[in-house]
Amino acid sequence: MINEIFLKKSCLQKIPHFIEKVRKKGEVLVIRSNDMKFSKEDWFKFLTKNCKLQPDRRHYNYDQTIELIDWYKITNEKSKSTSFAFSTTKQPLHNDNAFFENGANINFFYMEKQVEHGGEQIIYFVDKLVEDLKEKNKALLKQLLAEKVLISKGNDEFKNYTEILKIKPYPMSFWNYFRTVKKCKKINDLCKNFFDFVENKSISSHESIKLFNNDCMLFNDKRILHGRNAFSAKNENDRILYQSMWN
Ligand SMILES: [Fe+2]
Repeated sequence: MINEIFLKKSCLQKIPHFIEKVRKKGEVLVIRSNDMKFSKEDWFKFLTKNCKLQPDRRHYNYDQTIELIDWYKITNEKSKSTSFAFSTTKQPLHNDNAFFENGANINFFYMEKQVEHGGEQIIYFVDKLVEDLKEKNKALLKQLLAEKVLISKGNDEFKNYTEILKIKPYPMSFWNYFRTVKKCKKINDLCKNFFDFVENKSISSHESIKLFNNDCMLFNDKRILHGRNAFSAKNENDRILYQSMWN
């Protein structure tokens, strides 16, 4: 479920309640910037003080080393465009913290600057993904729940040995196609088949949301897959998204 609210003084006290629904029920919260505008620094204060959330400051930078920072800046930059995050191309569906054994639960997006054409966030609820697999490819579901894979990034400082999908206590995914070690044909085929399944719009149930300047989106990283549509940009930094992680 996607909850959409408009930022105004009278709704501020309801936000902690909506964030609990993100954490516990896997719902998505979109906060539209209204007449009232919050900067990312305002949000950082609000999340720590009013919502009692703790930041998880571990972010992998472009060089694949861990940096401890409040906000990770994602922009279109030619020199970094070999990475999906910094390109203008479509970003495949993934979980951001799949390579952490103890990844943060809540992912907070702050859209500082959006482009006119494209750049929508793509969402695939893991609950729905499990239903789609049950209906359309039971054999693949069975394998995803049983087979453990190694997901790692950078110098292997953090890694996660896990099933790609879990259904208990609730459906969760640990998916990053490019960071999953394909050590044998079996795992390679599993990853390729799952990639094809989730990216195939005719069999999977994607939803899309366009964030505009100063809008935010919060989601439980383990309970939805997310990606981004391609977009047109004339210049570098035409689209600027800040990301932070919370528990
Ligand atoms: Fe992401």
